[in-house]
Amino acid sequence: MSRARTALRVAPPLETSGPFAADVIAGLTAKPKRLPPKYFYDAAGSALFERITHLDEYYPTRSELALLTEHASAIAAQFPPGCALVEFGSGSSRKARSLLGATASVQAYVPVDICGEFLLQDAAQLPRDFPHLAIYPVATDFTQLAELPAEIASLPRAGFFPGSTIGNFEPHEAARFLRHAGSLLGAGAVFAVGVDLAKAPDILYRAYNDAEGVTAKFNLNLLARINRELGADFDPAAFEHHAFYNAQRSRIEMHLASTRRQKVRICGATIEFRAGETIHTENSYKYTIESFRALAHGSGWSPVAVWSDGLFSVHALRRSDAEQTADE
Ligand SMILES: C[S@@+](CC[C@H](N)C(=O)[O-])C[C@H]1O[C@@H](n2cnc3c(N)ncnc32)[C@H](O)[C@@H]1O
Repeated sequence: MSRARTALRVAPPLETSGPFAADVIAGLTAKPKRLPPKYFYDAAGSALFERITHLDEYYPTRSELALLTEHASAIAAQFPPGCALVEFGSGSSRKARSLLGATASVQAYVPVDICGEFLLQDAAQLPRDFPHLAIYPVATDFTQLAELPAEIASLPRAGFFPGSTIGNFEPHEAARFLRHAGSLLGAGAVFAVGVDLAKAPDILYRAYNDAEGVTAKFNLNLLARINRELGADFDPAAFEHHAFYNAQRSRIEMHLASTRRQKVRICGATIEFRAGETIHTENSYKYTIESFRALAHGSGWSPVAVWSDGLFSVHALRRSDAEQTADE
């Protein structure tokens, strides 16, 4: 008799109400249709994003990692001694490792990410490499995070927001997030933020239209996720990945374009698509060093240093305490 054990896989219950369903219905009944990019990151989407970061065409990760590696000591020297490092949208924590390896002054690490599965898997690897670091992962939407773990209450804080995730916000939302991060991190905090720079449109185009089609899979996974979690009947093969640079707004736009006229059922609603109609799934705003510094300055942070290779930039910001106290 075989001694092999069979794992029983139980499908998670379908979510037909709740924030994901509400955001999907609101976005797909809006004109033009849109979906919030934070929903890209289920376990499958997070794994696809990791693959994107290794693509030849996707220069942002290569550039930012090189900047973080080369300037790790200078960046970490900005952090308050004995601090807790709070990373927003930590993903694989690969970039935090560069900073953590360059300084002994970080006592605790708080990775915050919306993808709990990915977060816990990566956080579990860290103690082996950083045995003296206290690690407090937080699985949540960082725009909704009301407070940091009680365990770091007595520590000074540094923030880390790499990956140009800040570029996924509309500029007014980016300003709101910077203020929110300032309130969470507290007086005297330092914030290291990775920001992709405006550049030749062909370089940008290639970064979001890779030859292997991984970015297309990442974009289309959103429809597969809606099918899996909300019981919708999207045919992902009837949608195409479109990504292009909107020079007027200095942003890459990602869309999913319906290849034909079709209807999709989601949570009891019927959503109609014209042939060629798109769902706008992501913006990725590109800044200049000066335009990002102006945004930070207007959002309660003083720019103190910047490192750049001309393609990407890493900014060190210090909380302008006089400006922020009125907000808290
Ligand atoms: C562009 S990826 C960057 C990942 C990683 N920091 C890097 O630099 O390679 C965005 C990351 O932020 C997370 N994320 C996106 N929106 C989020 C939100 N609203 N709240 C929390 N995490 C979010 C995603 O799960 C993903 O790990």
